[in-house]
Amino acid sequence: MCGIFGYVNFLVDKNRGEIVDTLIEGLQRLEYRGYDSAGFAVDGKLFNDGDNGEIMSNIIVKCPGKVKVLRQKVADDKIDRSDVFDNHAGIAHTRWATHGQPKEQNCHPHRSDAAKGEFIVVHNGIITNFAALREYLLSKGHQFESETDTECIAKLFKHFYDLNLKAGVSPDFNELTKQVLHELEGSYGLLVKSFHYPGEVCGTRKGSPLLVGVKTDRKLKVDFVDVEFENNASAAVAQQQIGQTLSSLNGPNGATAQDLGFIPVAPGEQNLRTSQSRAFLSEDDLPTPVEFFLSSDPASVVQHTKKVLFLEDDDIAHIYDGELHIHRASTKSAGESTVRPIQTLEMELNEIMKGPFKHFMQKEIFEQPDSTFNTMRGRIDFENNTVTLGGLKAWLPTIRRCRRIIMIACGTSYHSCLATRSIFEELTEIPVSVELASDFLDRRSPVFRDDTCVFVSQSGETADSILALQYCLERGALTVGIVNSVGSSMSRQTHCGVHINAGPEIGVASTKAYTSQYIALVMFALSLSNDSISRAGRHEEIIQGLQKIPDQIKQVLKLEDKIKKLCNDDLNDQKSLLLLGRGYQFATALEGALKIKEISYMHSEGVLAGELKHGVLALVDDKLPIIAFATRDSLFPKTMSAIEQVTARDGRPIVVCNEGDAIISNDKVHTTLEVPQTVDCLQGLLNVIPVQLISYWLAVNRGIDVDFPRNLAKSVTVE
Ligand code: UD1
Ligand code: BG6
Repeated sequence: MCGIFGYVNFLVDKNRGEIVDTLIEGLQRLEYRGYDSAGFAVDGKLFNDGDNGEIMSNIIVKCPGKVKVLRQKVADDKIDRSDVFDNHAGIAHTRWATHGQPKEQNCHPHRSDAAKGEFIVVHNGIITNFAALREYLLSKGHQFESETDTECIAKLFKHFYDLNLKAGVSPDFNELTKQVLHELEGSYGLLVKSFHYPGEVCGTRKGSPLLVGVKTDRKLKVDFVDVEFENNASAAVAQQQIGQTLSSLNGPNGATAQDLGFIPVAPGEQNLRTSQSRAFLSEDDLPTPVEFFLSSDPASVVQHTKKVLFLEDDDIAHIYDGELHIHRASTKSAGESTVRPIQTLEMELNEIMKGPFKHFMQKEIFEQPDSTFNTMRGRIDFENNTVTLGGLKAWLPTIRRCRRIIMIACGTSYHSCLATRSIFEELTEIPVSVELASDFLDRRSPVFRDDTCVFVSQSGETADSILALQYCLERGALTVGIVNSVGSSMSRQTHCGVHINAGPEIGVASTKAYTSQYIALVMFALSLSNDSISRAGRHEEIIQGLQKIPDQIKQVLKLEDKIKKLCNDDLNDQKSLLLLGRGYQFATALEGALKIKEISYMHSEGVLAGELKHGVLALVDDKLPIIAFATRDSLFPKTMSAIEQVTARDGRPIVVCNEGDAIISNDKVHTTLEVPQTVDCLQGLLNVIPVQLISYWLAVNRGIDVDFPRNLAKSVTVE
């Protein structure tokens, strides 16, 4: 969804062209998340403003469409590339429309005022009280240029800046940011720049990810940044006083700061830059060249640096004079961390490149032998048939005692929960329910302190799942994450969890995350039932089965040519497709149907084979394409009976079956797609691969941009 990228250079000479290129490349790395417009802001030329003396103008370039359209606009507008800056802050954004259509006026960045563009903002998330803020700001004479909620933020910066000045205060950028944040409700990840603070940027987040990458030759004294809590009494007074101005939104007379007796604070008092941070002090105290990359996604930072710091909700990252400071608007509360670690990203640049593949989705489908192996790497001892999940080990006794397990997720991640629910119940004997996050919240489902709530998510940023997580945390449940993105909100907010280690997934249609989530959940179930001697045989069978999965996936991938031909010859022109499965394969049918809908735009439906006769059979004739999953497990005879119900109505299903399994006479099926046999609870890992490939080739044949299907986003960060 929306993406943020910012770049600050200090004592590293860059011309405007290089800065613009860096910002646009950053946006390109965010493209996979889904968006409909893009834009950036950089410094223009110095000019004499009269009031403010010599100030810097802005260049804002933005447009609906892809980043390549933005790049073309830069060329068409003949943006001067030549001016060199030894310190500069640039901000950029990809937008996924929420308030207002994708048209130029609504694209980010947004500015506080058309005249000078004093404050410029890019923002992810939604400001829920924007209507009240807009009304208030309009009443104070601000003029809006867009329909967005974001524009309020830019205007609030100017509003407070002017109020401070009137009160004789020259606020520090981070103090001003605190004053603005005080008024915002909703979720945000945002960056702000201003000619009042040349070369500086403030970044902050609440419920929307933001990280800071640091590139410097300087050896950092420590691998963390100290958090600077609110301790400036004067600033607190100012903030409180100005805060009252907007609190008066709901007040009787719309009183102003002056009306409320705003207490001026001595000029310069708040401008003291208290440096509690140790990480960014050079050994000799001399300024050192450094570059900062701010982003909502590590994928856009990794090409520049692997040293990153993930911001927490309500952190304000203030970058100036080559230093990174983390501020908080509140005083320190008990147990609150006083540092933010600088971590090393394990992601490699080639992991986010397409390599020889045409699309990320195709690459990710073919990566599954490796990604599934990586999920198990270092966690399963295949000789002794044991599983050790480092992130869960200490929590297992508590989880074993829980009253029930609730798995909560959206989309494909929800299907991985469905696929593994049965093995969870079998191995743990704990009741397991599987919930779609949005429905779980809509129902305000009861949650208790002795529940274990498992959140499954590729991105770790899906808004519905995060809200459900917060709901469960508030009710005192134990929360476990099964997450791909290290450092994501869900990974950090859960009590414990498992990183699935599938590597970055860029294609909007999730493929390798599904198989890795599936394996992580099976490993979780195995570790929960480790104590039980009576289950040793079943454990061994599953663990030995898991060991073979990567190679068996390689086998299944060899079906690609047959699937390509099937799509070309028989499926391309179809309007609808049914997928039939039961037991373990119901989840495969649902996941296959979702993949086909998502990227080929063909209507498809996953049907529980046992339910066929209760309605869906009415659709069956000799034309409707049907894919049936008939691999060997205890429900195989029942699946066969469903297939016979189809063939008796002249349906000719495509059957996914085990190798060499001549189960149905050839004239009754359209074709078979043979996959190796594995343990019943793992068979879905192999059966899903042919449908991933079918959805991919259907989409390619239909000329659809597979990695960017219409109306969809990789990470849905709004409710
Ligand atoms: C960890 C390291 C891995 C290292 C291994 C060696 C990380 C991210 N992983 O892997 O690089 O090779 O030790 O011992 O540093 N967590 C959550 N919620 C989630 C996911 C994870 O709270 O959704 C927590 C876990 O409880 C754990 C930590 O994050 O405390 C790391 O989890 P994970 O990467 O799965 O742990 P290991 O496999 O032990
Ligand atoms: C979006 C994606 O809808 O979110 C799906 O397009 C994905 O592919 C779903 O399954 C859930 O995302 P996540 O990141 O929570 O697994």
